[in-house]
Amino acid sequence: MPSRPIDPRLHTLSTTTREHFRRLYDEEPAFLVAAPGRVNLIGEHTDYNDGFVLPVAIDRHVVVAASPRRDRFVRLYAADFDQASTFSLDDIEHDSGTRWSNYERGVAWALQEAGYRLPGMDIVLSSDVPIGSGLSSSAAIEVATAFAFQQAGNLSLDGVQRALLCQKAENEFVGMRCGIMDQYIISLGKRDHALLIDCRSLDYQLVPIPAGCALVVCDTNKRRGLVDSEYNTRRQECEEGARLLGVPALRDISVDAFRAREAELPPTIRMHCRHVVTENQRVLDAVAALRAGELAQFGDLMNASHISLRDDYQVSCAELDAMVEVAWEQQGVLGARMTGAGFGGCTVNLVLEQAAAHFQHQVAQGYTAITDLQPEIYVCKAEEGVRLID
Ligand code: GLA
Repeated sequence: MPSRPIDPRLHTLSTTTREHFRRLYDEEPAFLVAAPGRVNLIGEHTDYNDGFVLPVAIDRHVVVAASPRRDRFVRLYAADFDQASTFSLDDIEHDSGTRWSNYERGVAWALQEAGYRLPGMDIVLSSDVPIGSGLSSSAAIEVATAFAFQQAGNLSLDGVQRALLCQKAENEFVGMRCGIMDQYIISLGKRDHALLIDCRSLDYQLVPIPAGCALVVCDTNKRRGLVDSEYNTRRQECEEGARLLGVPALRDISVDAFRAREAELPPTIRMHCRHVVTENQRVLDAVAALRAGELAQFGDLMNASHISLRDDYQVSCAELDAMVEVAWEQQGVLGARMTGAGFGGCTVNLVLEQAAAHFQHQVAQGYTAITDLQPEIYVCKAEEGVRLID
């Protein structure tokens, strides 16, 4: 792994998490785990259609401090909410009072369903992944928790199995029918790289982040409404489209074949499927462009992805569009688009490094002038996936 100075943010976060643990449980934690958030460069709403995605794990983290217990209880404390929650591994139920704890409960449930024998645990978690802004704070909690159980119980499961079990927790315990992208990249991310993930075979290829480029994440500070119900509806419509087209998944139809047959589909399903089919092709074209050093072409594909998410898939919103449109006007921007499920949250921008500071300032100003909202804008680094930290 290329060396990089210790990330001061992560250092601060892990120090305070450790302090909370000492104060609460009166001992040192046995270990600390860090799980990153993520942004997706391109390939949105393709993962649950067996397609391709190109996400990056970022240097914003959920940190878990933990020690195994001798009994069957899991005691949780979320430092950011100053809330505690305890459950028994012999009877894992939802807790509507501490909704954040359902991610940990779900992971323990999914691991046990898969036959793993878990130890009880004392856990403290804190996070600097903003919540509800589309950077996968919940998937980071899941993957950090799974990794902590693995460490405490000496469980052998690889990164892909871990991602699949965390996805199962979210699908079946929490009730959000997400794809595999978030849990996968958080589990397996590689420093300084994006991962081209084939969401059918679950293989990946490493794609280096080009030198001289900055990854800028702009948080609209419009918290996502409607996202779960709209998400589950889109997913059903994609399945229905594939059925009507007679293919196992939308991954299995080329752009040309789709164009020739799209009139067979009802109007809404047609538009939504068109996004998925064209987006899959854009991911493959984008990776080819990056590998050939064609940064302008890569950026154009990011922009086209946003337009397709806005017009065909209909998951953008006024705030995301404003942030992207202001970004498109700036010098040194290669590409800008919404990232994640949509309806609020963040945009991802690829910007020439020397233009990044000016970009940050200009976009913040331009966005506030249109929306009256204060955005959060940060330059991110591509990080490792989940890992133990000192
Ligand atoms: C959410 C889901 C992912 C993926 C994206 C959209 O982040 O958790 O599985 O579907 O939306 O690309």
